[in-house]
Amino acid sequence: MSKAQPFCDGSHKGGAFVPTKYSADESKTVYFCGCKQSKNGALCDGTHKAL
Ligand code: FES
Repeated sequence: MSKAQPFCDGSHKGGAFVPTKYSADESKTVYFCGCKQSKNGALCDGTHKAL
């Protein structure tokens, strides 16, 4: 629902969705999931390739 995907903008309030917190504990490149089917939380696990 967020217009700032993949980041939360508060649009979920009152709905069934809840945000997932991600903490960058180290400096490295990560890819956030945009298909919402990843089994790795907010991060892409390659599932989008099979959709
Ligand atoms: S974008 Fe969702 S698994 Fe890669």
